[in-house]
Amino acid sequence: MKAAQHTRYGDEQNLHLLELAPPKPGPDDVVLKVVATSINASDWEFLSGTPAYSRIMGLTRPRKVVLGSDISGIVVAVGANVKEFAIGDEVFCDNFEVFGGFAEMARVPVGKLLRKPATISHVQASAIPQSAVIALQALRKYGDVTAGQQVLINGGGGGAGSFAIQFAKQAGAHVTAVDHANKLAFMSELGADSVIDYQQQDVTHGLQRFDKIVDFVGHHSVRDYFRILQANGSYVIVGGLLRDILSTLTLGSLLTWVSGKRMSILAHQQNATDIMSVVRQVEQGNIRICVDRTYPLQDIRSAFQHFREQKVLGKVVIEIEGKY
Ligand SMILES: NC(=O)c1ccc[n+]([C@@H]2O[C@H](COP(=O)([O-])OP(=O)(O)OC[C@H]3O[C@@H](n4cnc5c(N)ncnc54)[C@H](OP(=O)(O)O)[C@@H]3O)[C@@H](O)[C@H]2O)c1
Repeated sequence: MKAAQHTRYGDEQNLHLLELAPPKPGPDDVVLKVVATSINASDWEFLSGTPAYSRIMGLTRPRKVVLGSDISGIVVAVGANVKEFAIGDEVFCDNFEVFGGFAEMARVPVGKLLRKPATISHVQASAIPQSAVIALQALRKYGDVTAGQQVLINGGGGGAGSFAIQFAKQAGAHVTAVDHANKLAFMSELGADSVIDYQQQDVTHGLQRFDKIVDFVGHHSVRDYFRILQANGSYVIVGGLLRDILSTLTLGSLLTWVSGKRMSILAHQQNATDIMSVVRQVEQGNIRICVDRTYPLQDIRSAFQHFREQKVLGKVVIEIEGKY
């Protein structure tokens, strides 16, 4: 089978399309013919080896050589203990830890697998698992969003941010979304009440105060975020530099202890209930899955280049079926 492999950290030029042996299922695994796998920021981080925490799976060289965790496809083989799924089933998953989605076939532990409803395409299904779930879990970490709350989404135009804006609006919040100038109109279309270009305005130095801040990118100090929280407000960092995450864990915890404000990191829990709740919302027409562009597997380098060009509105997806 063809797979995009990388054996050293660096940019997308380190991805090579190679012929590899197809995966075999262990007793509790299935093997999928991959139809679509979306790119997450975490794929870029594991490809490049930055931030430093992305080297947790290999300090000097990557141990996961075929990336891609949000996979949608068709079951082509099942392990001896697998009773829930059969060959031909259409499924999708968050295959984080195992990865392998940037390939024609991927091994997935059965516990991670969900049935793909016929109401959404494989491309759409691949865009949901990690992005939508981190958005959902970050927003509700300190209680559900309630109507009228002031919510700040930092990185609102990206994969997770595009879901977060919509979830917060669904709950009736007033949403301020921050991202690159190229994404301001997109974030407004998703429902953001106020949009900010991070290159033009520093939201942490404004007068507005927030009940909830969900931060997908970091880039500001914990003190700055603390200042713009309402008295009972909360700040959750989902992604960012190791420095940002460590200072939230240390200074943020201290500030949480001495004030009514709460500051912490998100530890994302893969969760079938959350993923399927998003699918239901999509089916009801409440939430849009935003796929900016799809690329065939052989153009995976271009896909990652586009991912880094500061133009992507929502998600980029690699489509694999029928291209070879
Ligand atoms: N905590 C957990 O358990 C967990 C689990 C999974 C993933 N994550 C992390 O979650 C993060 C978000 O993922 P994602 O897939 O949504 O990423 P993404 O699609 O790359 O979105 C990030 C967005 O932030 C924007 N941005 C960059 N710099 C900014 C700044 N200074 N201010 C405001 N916005 C800025 C980016 O725009 P540009 O195009 O201009 O760069 C992009 O639109 C990643 O860091 C990932 O590692 C965390």
